[in-house]
Amino acid sequence: MIAATVGSAVGLGNIWRFPAEVQSNGGAVFLAIYILCVLLLGIPVMLAEFSLGRAGHSDAVGVFKNLKAGKCWWAVGGLAILASYLILCFYMVVAGWTFEYLWQSISGGLFSPEVGESASTHYVMKMESFVTDSYNPLINTYMMILINLVVLLAGVQKGIERISNVMMPVLFLILLIFIGVSLTLPGAAEGLEFFLKPDFSKISATTVVNALGQAFFSLSLGMGILITYSSYFPKDAKLTRTAMTVSLLDLLVAVMMGLIIFPAVTSFGLSSEGLRGATLVFITLPEVFGQMPMTQLWSILFFLLLTVAALTSTISIAEVSVAFIRDRFKMKRWKACLIVLMPLFVLSALCSLSLGPLSHIRLAGFNIFDFLDNMATNIMLPIGSIFLCIYVGWFAPKTMLPDQLTNNGTIRSRMYRPVLFIIRYIAPLLIGLVLISYFI
Ligand code: PHE
Repeated sequence: MIAATVGSAVGLGNIWRFPAEVQSNGGAVFLAIYILCVLLLGIPVMLAEFSLGRAGHSDAVGVFKNLKAGKCWWAVGGLAILASYLILCFYMVVAGWTFEYLWQSISGGLFSPEVGESASTHYVMKMESFVTDSYNPLINTYMMILINLVVLLAGVQKGIERISNVMMPVLFLILLIFIGVSLTLPGAAEGLEFFLKPDFSKISATTVVNALGQAFFSLSLGMGILITYSSYFPKDAKLTRTAMTVSLLDLLVAVMMGLIIFPAVTSFGLSSEGLRGATLVFITLPEVFGQMPMTQLWSILFFLLLTVAALTSTISIAEVSVAFIRDRFKMKRWKACLIVLMPLFVLSALCSLSLGPLSHIRLAGFNIFDFLDNMATNIMLPIGSIFLCIYVGWFAPKTMLPDQLTNNGTIRSRMYRPVLFIIRYIAPLLIGLVLISYFI
């Protein structure tokens, strides 16, 4: 159970998105607020989702029906499903990048600079010219959509998940090795300082909103995923312990990535202006591999693991929409799969092209990729979580939360009171305030 939930939580969010957010939000301040968000809001909201899922025993929309909530509460589930779909649009693009880097590692192309190119500019140029290209990233994104389609149509998600459960610990181990390499690079201290020594004068509403969004994204909160997962949890599963373990492991992986990336950024002099946060991991990691014996082997191993991690995430996000459409419209599974995945050929393509040929299209000042990411992650997930907390804290059957946290009174839960307090008052207020201050 913990493995499945960690499998959903740990993904590109920790490895690609977290370092990018740290980079563009002033470093250690972001980390400090992020940790607060995970501990103070992430864990209680996760417990709210777990309780709702196990008590309501259905998907994000169905739980509200099963618990006999008034009609409008279904919209909260609907918002979650919509957010998860928007996230899928750009997540698929980054999954495609991972796939490309896997092939480039296997062919060796990733590590062969053009004549006259220094190693550092090689990786920057490589990634920049790749993501801004019209065809190449698109082909990889399409490959990932097709792989998703095949897995979903063949109904072998469980098999893939099992493979990923074996691979996750391997990923963890090799990250440890990379930390060792990164920390011993010349100039590593400066990068560590950027990542670990907060300068609180740099706090702004944007930093807080971004940290909150990242916490929800990384913990897979507010997307209906954990509601669905927990509906399969056994009766005697300890929800509090599961939520804490999952959240702390997820946080750990993110912090480990920071310890790998930022020493490398300063050591290789990469912190220059114009370096896109979104491409950070794909530039710094090959640099780190270059410092290791058997460069290519590490690179293949890492990008293979990351591709599988991305695949399990895209499949589980798509599955939310597939299950919803199938149940709602009583449709055959294959039809629902096509309805969910086909539009991605256009929507993900738009995200991908918005970094290159379509970069002139601006929505609220963002390109399409960043707009979708910002809207879904930083706005829809927090709003959905506010309503989720209000429902669980105030409107759900009074005994639901205590029964779920104490397994119907069979175990003690010291967390119950503080969690209820946070879900009722702190989370809705704090998240609401953060969102309001972001907009004004
Ligand atoms: N939490 C995952 C990550 O960090 C993303 C995800 C969201 C996966 C929702 C599944 C469902 O990459």
